[in-house]
Amino acid sequence: MPLSATSGRSSDRQTPAGSKPRFVFRCIGCGQTASSASQDYRCANCGNLLEITDPSWKSANAASLKSLWRERRSSNDALDLSGVWRFRELLPLPQAAPGVVTLREGNTPLYELPLSSRITGISHLYAKHQGMNPTGSFKDTGMTVAATFARESGSRWVACASTGNTSASMAAYAARGGMRSLVLVPEGKISWSKLSQALDYGALACQLRTDFDGCLRLLQELVKEAPVYQLNSINPFRLEGQKTLAFELMDQLDWQPPDHIIVPGGNLGNSSAIGKGLLEMQNLGVIPRLPKLSVIQAEGANALVRTLRETNGKHLISVQAETRATAIRIGNPVSWEKAAKVIQATNGACEQVSEIAIAQAKAEIGAEGIGCEPASAVTLAGLKKLVQQGFVRKDESVVLVLTGNLLKDPDFTMEFHRGDLFRDHRDSAALQSLRHPPVILDATIKAVIQTLEQAEKSDRKPNA
Ligand code: F0G
Repeated sequence: MPLSATSGRSSDRQTPAGSKPRFVFRCIGCGQTASSASQDYRCANCGNLLEITDPSWKSANAASLKSLWRERRSSNDALDLSGVWRFRELLPLPQAAPGVVTLREGNTPLYELPLSSRITGISHLYAKHQGMNPTGSFKDTGMTVAATFARESGSRWVACASTGNTSASMAAYAARGGMRSLVLVPEGKISWSKLSQALDYGALACQLRTDFDGCLRLLQELVKEAPVYQLNSINPFRLEGQKTLAFELMDQLDWQPPDHIIVPGGNLGNSSAIGKGLLEMQNLGVIPRLPKLSVIQAEGANALVRTLRETNGKHLISVQAETRATAIRIGNPVSWEKAAKVIQATNGACEQVSEIAIAQAKAEIGAEGIGCEPASAVTLAGLKKLVQQGFVRKDESVVLVLTGNLLKDPDFTMEFHRGDLFRDHRDSAALQSLRHPPVILDATIKAVIQTLEQAEKSDRKPNA
């Protein structure tokens, strides 16, 4: 497979700086720095993960950054319209042409959650909805940066292993950047909605007879043998883009950090990235203090929970992952050490939640008129647990990071409402009141009116 430079699309060719790259790769274990990295993105010295840093970031002035970033909100420049590149002073920058690959990612809404506030007793409760990104998940914020550097490297093929969202996002950004994309997904274990996105964006999609962890292992071997550019979150450019969630969130909160940020944990790149963004802002004085960053996993995919509880974060306990929140059906998370560090640095927590708690929380977020995919709903389920434990106090402010759009997993949603999700389990009253199964009727006014009257009656029932 020959490697050749890609042309890209001229409309997206914007170059932020045009200067020489100043960033370096730094090992999170031994601290060794290097100006380049191999395709497995591991330290040549000790084999640990790499992160990106730039000595010039340290000299940025907090007040000027805040006003510059705010000012750019009213600009129509393509880079300023991206909710990632708007924060480019703290990002690795490509050299001259062909510039960045962008779909105007980021710029996601911060919603109040009045119903969930009532349920949890937390009056200052918000959702940062990353599912409102161009391909429907937070992956786009990382992909714009990583795809930019993939194109700059002259790669013809980009590749990832995925539980669905990464592949959809990667395929979209590859298409925008004039590259081909190779997707490895676990057969039968990802939502059609996500796979169909990747197909439409032109990916070569391989459904492998294994789980996500098996797909990722295979990819790690593949990148050593084939000229493909790896776009999993082990690629630190991804995390640089994803860290901008923290910048955008603080801008939306007028630089007043909430007490808590709660994020789902799968491969643990996103929590690591958000933590990195928070720490960088605090070091620069952009924010006066750190929110506590907590990571929530599904009980059936709880590698980090077990690692922190049983080894005090010393070594990873892998698990055989099983959960209907397929986005986080991951048993051997690559970025566990990065995530453990940011949880510790911010004094956050790590919790696990049951399948029923996830389904209930997802329906509750739906009832807010917002909705999210199952993996995102672990945040609300986790918050309930953290409130019960007294880790989150009712007078504290909390931001839930909703990572994926409701439309990402229609099968889960339909099964929940039809009552088919937990066949062996009798619905609790709480679940029952959240279920809205569709009704099939004769096409008559009478039938519809009768159904309407019944619905009205049950709405009026006390405690309904
Ligand atoms: N939420 C959603 C909707 C996701 O798609 C993922 C990960 C996560 C949470 C967990 O984020 O891995 O950074 O801890 N999805 C990946 C994928 C693995 O392939 O789409 P993480």
